[in-house]
Amino acid sequence: MRDTASYLELEADAGLSATDLHYAPGRSRLIDGLTLHLPDSGIHCLIGPNGAGKSLTLRLLHGLLTPDAGAVRWRGDTMSASDRVAQAMVFQKPVLLRRSVAANVDFVLKSRRSADPTFRDALLKRVGLEGRNRQPARLLSGGEQQRLALARALAIRPRVLFLDEPTASLDPNSARLIEEILCEERHHGTLCVLVTHDVGQARRLADSVAFVSVGRIVEHSTTDAFFRAPVSREARAYLSNLMVL
Ligand SMILES: Nc1ncnc2c1ncn2[C@@H]1O[C@H](COP(=O)(O)OP(=O)(O)OP(=O)(O)O)[C@@H](O)[C@H]1O
Ligand SMILES: [Mg+2]
Repeated sequence: MRDTASYLELEADAGLSATDLHYAPGRSRLIDGLTLHLPDSGIHCLIGPNGAGKSLTLRLLHGLLTPDAGAVRWRGDTMSASDRVAQAMVFQKPVLLRRSVAANVDFVLKSRRSADPTFRDALLKRVGLEGRNRQPARLLSGGEQQRLALARALAIRPRVLFLDEPTASLDPNSARLIEEILCEERHHGTLCVLVTHDVGQARRLADSVAFVSVGRIVEHSTTDAFFRAPVSREARAYLSNLMVL
């Protein structure tokens, strides 16, 4: 089991690494010297207050945004187009096509030239949308749309899966279903980078927790160490406020 220090000292070529990222559109330094080294598999959580920069961090790691300075690497090399093709993201607000449930997944499969109705139906079953193939995606509930967005992400059999609060609008049973899927993905060797405000979820799922504050990672530890004895003032304040609530 790694301790707090060794997560911070993980070799930059271990898996996904961001080094001294800066992102400052206009004059606001939204990401301000962010460094994060993750292994190439497992579930790793980003937590922190609203506006800390968690969603921006996922976008930078996934290459949807280009940093003004700093680098994102996969196994020590600059992230290539083929590396990124093996990554998928579930956004904080689901991104879906105005088509049927099945067509939403088929579109992703066709883009990878791997259209396969059996695989698609298995995916929909996996996210609890069995038998909903013909329903227009826009008529799904918010939580169902989020689960369809996860099915779309899984359709590419991602090597790296970014998830931005994927269970925020889900009922407890649906949230548990998503958590089980993430555990299965970890078992298959996928790297899952999960943003969550659900501290219980981070405790249940994460191999490590990185705390984001004002555009930087101020602490990155094993989940056990993080919740047992957070070292940063910011994480201590965040956790103590939660306990008061
Ligand atoms: N394109 C942009 N231009 C200017 N400011 C932005 C832009 N995108 C995000 N921000 C700001 O950057 C900060 C970080 O945003 P981000 O969405 O990463 O926060 P977050 O940690 O994900 O918060 P939440 O928990 O509310 O989802 C916020 O103050 C946000 O308003
Ligand atoms: Mg966010």
